[in-house]
Amino acid sequence: MGRGSKRKVEKQQLDESIDSESETQNEDSTTLLHPRSKKGRKVARDAELCLVGPSIAADEARRRWPLRYQSKNKVKKQAVTETSNDEEDDVLQARNHYDKAKVDGCLYKLGDNAYVQAEDGNLNYIARIVELFETIDKKPYFKAQWFYRAEDTVINKDNAHLLDKRRVFLSDIHDDNPLNCILSKVEIAQVAPNIDLVAKERTIPQSELYYDMKYSLPYLTFKNIVTETPKRDSDTSSVVSSECGSSECNSNNTTSKVERSLLDLYSGCGAMSTGLCMGASLSGVKLVTRWAVDINSYACKSLQWNHPETKVRNETAEDFLCLLKEWEKLCQKFSLLGADKPLENGSSETSDEEDDDGQGCEEEQEKEREDDGDSEDSSEEFEVERLLDICFGDPNQVNKPGLYFKVRWKGYDASYDTWEPMKGLSNCPEKVKDFVRKGYKSNIVPLPGNVYFICGGPPCQGISGFNRFRNGNAPLDDIKNKQLVVYMDIIEHLKPRYVLMENVVDILKFAKGFLGRYAIGRLVSMNYQARMGMMTAGSYGVAQCRMRVFLWGAHPSEKLPQYPLPTHEVASRGHVPNEFEEINVAYSKSDTCQLERALTLGDAISDLPQVNNDESVDQRKYGKVARTEFQKYIRLQRKDVINLTVDTPHASSLGMLYDHRPLQLNADDYERVCRVPKRKGANFRDLPGVIVGENNRVEWDTTMERVKLKSGKPLVPDYAMKFVKGRSTKPFGRLWMDEIVKTVVTRAKPHNQSILHPSQDRVLTIRENARLQGFPDCYKLFGSIKERYIQVGNAVAVPVAIALGYAFGLACRGVSDDEPLMILPFKFPKCLARSSQIEVDDSD
Ligand SMILES: C[S@@+](CC[C@H](N)C(=O)[O-])C[C@H]1O[C@@H](n2cnc3c(N)ncnc32)[C@H](O)[C@@H]1O
Repeated sequence: MGRGSKRKVEKQQLDESIDSESETQNEDSTTLLHPRSKKGRKVARDAELCLVGPSIAADEARRRWPLRYQSKNKVKKQAVTETSNDEEDDVLQARNHYDKAKVDGCLYKLGDNAYVQAEDGNLNYIARIVELFETIDKKPYFKAQWFYRAEDTVINKDNAHLLDKRRVFLSDIHDDNPLNCILSKVEIAQVAPNIDLVAKERTIPQSELYYDMKYSLPYLTFKNIVTETPKRDSDTSSVVSSECGSSECNSNNTTSKVERSLLDLYSGCGAMSTGLCMGASLSGVKLVTRWAVDINSYACKSLQWNHPETKVRNETAEDFLCLLKEWEKLCQKFSLLGADKPLENGSSETSDEEDDDGQGCEEEQEKEREDDGDSEDSSEEFEVERLLDICFGDPNQVNKPGLYFKVRWKGYDASYDTWEPMKGLSNCPEKVKDFVRKGYKSNIVPLPGNVYFICGGPPCQGISGFNRFRNGNAPLDDIKNKQLVVYMDIIEHLKPRYVLMENVVDILKFAKGFLGRYAIGRLVSMNYQARMGMMTAGSYGVAQCRMRVFLWGAHPSEKLPQYPLPTHEVASRGHVPNEFEEINVAYSKSDTCQLERALTLGDAISDLPQVNNDESVDQRKYGKVARTEFQKYIRLQRKDVINLTVDTPHASSLGMLYDHRPLQLNADDYERVCRVPKRKGANFRDLPGVIVGENNRVEWDTTMERVKLKSGKPLVPDYAMKFVKGRSTKPFGRLWMDEIVKTVVTRAKPHNQSILHPSQDRVLTIRENARLQGFPDCYKLFGSIKERYIQVGNAVAVPVAIALGYAFGLACRGVSDDEPLMILPFKFPKCLARSSQIEVDDSD
């Protein structure tokens, strides 16, 4: 899929090479047919060469390479399927095949690897010799299977330094080349990928180069060469060690008994992890979000309410990373990890006496505190009853970041709990030890190897089109893009079996895709298999386009998850340059498949009761029946929704409609909105005083005076006229019930986006936006109106996450195949129902 254009270039190169060769009849003037060559470039080389006989027996050669023996002409045109393309291709016809050849006195055998002459200024190419043959016109040729260096892959030269220079990747690109392109032999060892990089290093022989993965262009896939993952479809009876983030749990449904733990980083209100767990459950895998981290306290509150099973950490990811490192040290200190030197009596001496790498966050902070000369504590006569929690950061906001424990004081209640620095607790080592022991048992903070799956969308605000200070030369030097590094560092520390990163499509556009390339480069450098896909939310059953990039990573011993193909008919929008074009998750045009029609805004929200601009009720009855299948399923009660915990403390409020409130527009904007006609496509251009001139640009109607609002301000504001140089139709734009919405936004202001309800004078409500994102209605949100819009607008569309969760489930059970794409056996929103027996209640 998507490879047609590339193949055409190669074919053209072959044509050019053949033409020029037959014209000049020059044995030494050859064209190198490498997939990376943009044009066929001639590489002249004098070499002594010959195919070394005897030739392979004719019948054996015909059996092994039948396409080479079909014609007496040098080239036979025909369809070739070998490299999974269905285009017509050119096959050089052979007189004989050989298993040896000599170039400049050096003997090459089939299967040997060689450097191949590149054009001046470029590193020589690297090939495996997979065929040696003489053409009909008696020219010696070899068929190359190319190896890629990191810089030849999507990682490219800007991020190649992340990988060992000796590491190359076997491609599935083959082509024919004259024998005199070969320069010299190269030893390339095959080694097993291993996320324990130190152990892996020991297995790398002295050879010049080594390889452990294949690289293929569709979905920019780095994958194990041999997938030796045993099928583990018997998980319902097996217990996987908790070492790898799995543990046995009781379950009375058909889902596996083995629990796989999920860490949701930059979790927001938890849409991504909610969907992933639902999808995994549909594939028979019990995935549970055990930890979530987000800097936004309201998002954390929403996630906690909907997922009481999750330990939600309201902190920055960078502090969380420091905490992970400190926690590991604490567990070592108390011999919980089988440390070599367990401390006697559980003493909690400060870690500057430890024999470690000195990189610990606490040490760094402690040193800074000492440098500040304020490392002494004031000792007061309070007694610690017990420690309740742990964090890394500056919980008291006194500019002293470090490791802190939350203390319950003897004789005092919870309102007196305080955060105390680690050092301040040196007089109660037993309490610290007790807390760490219990925390270790309950996995309060994950340890390396303890997390099965990490998901998250690290914000890269440095690439936003709105950011005037975008640093295109060194995107990672921009503090706003730092979270991508933090995210990868957390993966490097915890070493989960699976990784899924989500991001905006701009990650592939900004600075020639530097950040996307970096993300893949980091995963591959850690020895994860990886692939990247771009998905359109509307293609999975919501009335919103929304394109996002998803990067899978899988431990070398696991199957690399696939991308689920669309279930609904929505054309993906927007263009992504360069090789990222290859990653759009879609059926190819030639595939015949039956997709559901795209959902419309009306399908999603037409059952919701009318509310006004100043609506103040957060929780209400529906008051209207569900009209569409989408509405019936999105209204499912919590107890009927797949994978949502039912025994929550808020059961009494079940079956209510939450968050159906709009951001209240100020009086001026409200007056403007009231005057935008209630018809399809209406916007500020329909207000008096505006005319549409040449090139679809708005102009003031000079025949009339500028209309004023009650406040005296202009009805049509200047910013609307100037937006996108007067060409935009978005300011104060009305949506229409038969449309699909472009994308759900985080700021519900109508000044530069079409977010007005089709027939009511207000912006879409939080719940209406949540419907467009596929949140079940029972998913309640917390925080101010603005905060709730942000949570919904930031979210991964739930059906996309469900689809990916399903693909993950198949991979972790070892039952998915090696293709990058798969077909879903269910559709949203029906898949939300806990059981197909559930009677959908469409009453009000
Ligand atoms: C795109 S949203 C994630 C949405 C989420 N995946 C979902 O599906 O609902 C990014 C989140 O990152 C959080 N965030 C931003 N900077 C952060 C940081 N330094 N540490 C932790 N969270 C951060 C924001 O509060 C926001 O909720």
